[in-house]
Amino acid sequence: MKINSIKGFADILPGDVESWHFVEEKAREVFARYSFFEIRIPIVEKTELFSRSLGETTDIVEKEMYTFPDQDAKGSLLTLRPEGTAGVARAYLEAELYKVEPVRKLFYLGPMFRRERPQKGRLRQFYQIGAEVLGRPDPLVDAEVLLLLRDFFSLVGLEGATLELNSLGDVQCRPGYRKALLAFLKEREKKLCANCQRRMERNPLRVLDCKEESCVEVTRDAPSILDYLCDDCRAHFGVVQRLLRDSELDYQLNPRIVRGLDYYCRTAFEWTSARLGSQNAVAAGGRYDGLVEDLGGPPTPGVGFAIGMERLVLLLEMKEARQAPRLTLFLVWVGDAGRAWAFSAAHRLRQRGIAVEMEGEQKSLKSQMRRADKLGASYVLIVGEEELGRGTVVLRNMDTKEQSELALDRLEDELLARRVGG
Ligand code: HAM
Repeated sequence: MKINSIKGFADILPGDVESWHFVEEKAREVFARYSFFEIRIPIVEKTELFSRSLGETTDIVEKEMYTFPDQDAKGSLLTLRPEGTAGVARAYLEAELYKVEPVRKLFYLGPMFRRERPQKGRLRQFYQIGAEVLGRPDPLVDAEVLLLLRDFFSLVGLEGATLELNSLGDVQCRPGYRKALLAFLKEREKKLCANCQRRMERNPLRVLDCKEESCVEVTRDAPSILDYLCDDCRAHFGVVQRLLRDSELDYQLNPRIVRGLDYYCRTAFEWTSARLGSQNAVAAGGRYDGLVEDLGGPPTPGVGFAIGMERLVLLLEMKEARQAPRLTLFLVWVGDAGRAWAFSAAHRLRQRGIAVEMEGEQKSLKSQMRRADKLGASYVLIVGEEELGRGTVVLRNMDTKEQSELALDRLEDELLARRVGG
């Protein structure tokens, strides 16, 4: 019986992978310019890392995590990471990175797992390119990560993405807003969807993020968090906005951006594109000044973002970038002696850095030439028993169709001199 992949888990096949490489390469380029260093963290972590970091009442922790018992005596629970920020904060603490140099600018690439309902731009295994700055409280770095994102989008050729910006306040001012919002929602409780009615008391801000028509309608005139910011948060947000304006990075204030994770405070943002449909955020992030301390570390501010790779690749029209690397040389051989020679020549040439391919079984000349063409080979080397006897091979340039005879004993040097493979 045929076994298919799991719903929401996708293969990225050759032909598409090249777009991913292109995007990853550009990301590395931008991260280097902004002095970010790569970190690789495990895909599986203790479940409590996520429940504590993201918040018990978030959709992710309540219903979307892939959690399973470990095989140990304690029956500890493990979870496939639904995002990267918690793991990076844990690693920063565990390796005591702050002791040597408290300010760390880190980036990561890799798969995340959420058991959401699959649809366009929403998978259960999806890839993120993420960045986290730990140890910097200043608004300059909030603006810096947004400028980094703009540079990255322009490098990969993404057009038409909008930056939506908000401030979520902090422990000083958010409780006041929460109270006002809850009072507002309570007066309209009956009109909210069942899910929002249930979670309203525990997490009223999430109601602003609900996509149900009735909830969108009810919360249209809800109080805005921007009217409740304390002086410090207001000043911080003011500087972020001024820096963005000075750098001519356009943004829209959107007080409804509350983010689906509880660790956020102050600056929160999403880059959206109408072309993505309902799952419209191609990247999102914000500040999380309390997270490292909540995980048992020293007070350490943080700010970061993650880009959804599938959504980004979907938005890019990368016809050029999608070209697979061209094969340099295809060895066409005839007879047992031809095959033996071709096998060892292929190995020698590959060691010299030339991309070489050949058939393993005897095929007609025509069929071998067809395969060379299909693979996009720039050159074909034809090795017959007769040629071997003469100590020569025929080199054919597949673009110009020119053919020339090369001496076997000087083959590698001849090829390199003709810039085959270089
Ligand atoms: P997030 O908003 O949950 O934030 O995810 C960031 C991005 O990942 C989204 O904007 C979207 O492009 C992509 N994404 C999320 N879920 C899916 C899915 N099911 N299928 C496809 N793409 C998806 C975070 O994960 C935070 N850790 C970001 C962050 C880093 N904040 C601070 N530092």
